[in-house]
Amino acid sequence: MRNTTLGTRGPRVGVIGLGAMGMSFLYDMAAPRDEATSVSVIHQALDLGVTLIDTADVYGPHTNEELVGRALTGRRDRAVLATKVGRVVVDPTGGPDNLPILAGNGRPEHIRASIDASLRRLNTDHVDLYQLHRVDPQVPIEETWGAMAEAVAAGKARHLGLSEVTVEQIQRARAVHPVTTVQSEFSLWTRGVQAEVLPYCRQHGIGLLPYSPLGRGFLAGRFTSFDQLPHNDHRRRLPRFQQDNLWANLAIAAKVREVADRIEATPAQVALAWLVAQGPHVVPIPGTKTPAYLVDNAGAADLRLSPADLADLDAVPPAVGAR
Ligand SMILES: NC(=O)c1ccc[n+]([C@@H]2O[C@H](COP(=O)([O-])OP(=O)(O)OC[C@H]3O[C@@H](n4cnc5c(N)ncnc54)[C@H](OP(=O)(O)O)[C@@H]3O)[C@@H](O)[C@H]2O)c1
Repeated sequence: MRNTTLGTRGPRVGVIGLGAMGMSFLYDMAAPRDEATSVSVIHQALDLGVTLIDTADVYGPHTNEELVGRALTGRRDRAVLATKVGRVVVDPTGGPDNLPILAGNGRPEHIRASIDASLRRLNTDHVDLYQLHRVDPQVPIEETWGAMAEAVAAGKARHLGLSEVTVEQIQRARAVHPVTTVQSEFSLWTRGVQAEVLPYCRQHGIGLLPYSPLGRGFLAGRFTSFDQLPHNDHRRRLPRFQQDNLWANLAIAAKVREVADRIEATPAQVALAWLVAQGPHVVPIPGTKTPAYLVDNAGAADLRLSPADLADLDAVPPAVGAR
């Protein structure tokens, strides 16, 4: 797979990464988990050159890091391992559809305690990228980021990243310690970062990691009605997936499929190739626990969209409903 560099001084990674969250958390929670298949997806990812593996301590909670740690046993040096800190489960089943309720915790003492717990679960002595999952509005970002920089000084993390931040928050963090990456929801139906964060990252040598790059499966054509969503699934509580909004949003998925059919690719590949075309600093992290989807997504690295295809995709209508 083609490689790129995360940030100006960060690690080399395949231009398509892998998000591990859905292997353990938030989607399809009523279904039994198939750990062996998830582990084989991670192994196959490394074989395909999909080297950036993204997890978080809160996924599971905690079990997703353990799964990734088991999968990387004996393969650790082939992966660029990214985890996150700063979100905690306040109620495991108290949300709608028996889903967890999460809250931020950016207090320095929480950050200091969390890195060692993550390393233990991940079965490693360092992570390549340690990301702040959300800025805690109760704690100045400088304090949280300073505690994360201590993990770098101690050799427990190689690089630091942010998630869902404004340019102002990136600037404040950079004044304390370099920002290697910013992770944000970014896809053909969630384009808010294009206004400020994407150009800022390009200008300052910061990698941008689009999360939910397939619109949580919607852009890949997985869902055409609300009833197709599994039970105990985070998507059931998102406005965009409610029936009326979802129907309106089918125009976006239809355009992705139209381009895919024209160039003999899949909708997922088109959605990912559009992101990769936004710049060499952009590395989407599609999530999957399905071997065939992993191969499909990795294939997006070789797909070059023409200027006409890109213009067609740029013109998709804005999504209906909050993300
Ligand atoms: N920083 C943050 O706050 C944040 C928030 C959300 C997610 N993330 C990260 O971003 C990663 C990806 O986001 P995501 O999982 O929310 O959304 P996503 O990657 O947009 O979509 C995942 C969904 O699409 C399906 N899928 C994947 N590839 C497909 C293909 N080729 N064809 C058809 N369907 C396909 C998956 O199915 P299966 O799972 O059934 O294979 C899953 O249901 C996560 O794993 C996590 O690491 C970060």
